[in-house]
Amino acid sequence: MIALYLPSKCGNWKENEERLPFPGNFNEARLRREQKHSITKAIVWTRLYLVLLHVLTIGLLWVLYHSVKFEMTHPMSTIGRTWSPAQHIIEYELNGKHTTNHSHYSKYSGPPSDEQDEAWDDLLRPVYFNASLEEVVKSEETVRDDMVAVVEGGYLANLAVYHELHCVRQLRFWLYKDRYYPDLTDAGDKYQRNHLDHCLETLRLSIMCNANTALYTFYWEDATDLQPSTKSNSRSVCVKWEPLEKWAYNRKISTSPKFNKTLGFTI
Ligand SMILES: *[C@@H]1O[C@H](CO)[C@@H](O)[C@H](O)[C@H]1NC(C)=O
Ligand SMILES: *[C@@H]1O[C@H](CO)[C@@H](O)[C@H](O)[C@H]1NC(C)=O
Ligand SMILES: *[C@@H]1O[C@H](CO)[C@@H](O)[C@H](O)[C@H]1NC(C)=O
Repeated sequence: MIALYLPSKCGNWKENEERLPFPGNFNEARLRREQKHSITKAIVWTRLYLVLLHVLTIGLLWVLYHSVKFEMTHPMSTIGRTWSPAQHIIEYELNGKHTTNHSHYSKYSGPPSDEQDEAWDDLLRPVYFNASLEEVVKSEETVRDDMVAVVEGGYLANLAVYHELHCVRQLRFWLYKDRYYPDLTDAGDKYQRNHLDHCLETLRLSIMCNANTALYTFYWEDATDLQPSTKSNSRSVCVKWEPLEKWAYNRKISTSPKFNKTLGFTI
């Protein structure tokens, strides 16, 4: 009777029961607790799995969206191409411009004028920029002692497109040499021919590299024509000029750069 009210005994009895090999009432509760625990664990894992699945799906969709977008704006494979400080600003667009009307001139074509000279000056003003040593190395240019340094700092550089445009302009000068070379000497003539031959070769390489496959057809503009005329409705994928020009203008140095000969040459 007294023993029932003895808390110490009661406690001992419970302690003993806990050590019993077979479950009593108390162990059933423990089992339920364990089951509940494993269900909670399963729910946590399922939630974690779902979250992971969501993140993965969103990630994959993001990659898919950007690769499609990249394909659309970068239709040509550029794998293996040398790094260029201007490559990050390259965007593409469709362009259906053709010059098939020989009596319709752009601001760059037709018989020379002061306005045309101005347009070409504006086009070629950013012909040169000063590349940092880091850019020179990243572009895989060989760093040599005789590299041309400029007073602004950095090394004299230009993009191929500006070299080619310079060539086109030089050929125009030659075409209209009465205006541009009124007092050409024999030596000057020899120098120009050599220079322009190099220009033509530069343009041939670039044209063949880009190999525009736009289709042209021919037609008779006039029944009495001896030569057919060309026409084309083809659209080409072209580099957007404005961002490229903006980059070139941001980086330009003088069109007649001053060289820093204290750099480079070690002799
Ligand atoms: C060619 O251009 C000239 C000058 O802009 C224009 O008068 C002529 O109508 C054009 N011809 C054709 C076939 O578009
Ligand atoms: C040329 O480059 C050297 C070395 O960077 C520099 O100390 C010097 O001031 C430069 N000279 C001119 C005229 O810019
Ligand atoms: C290029 O020239 C500009 C000034 O026109 C100068 O601020 C810049 O530091 C130069 N860049 C390098 C790489 O020397």
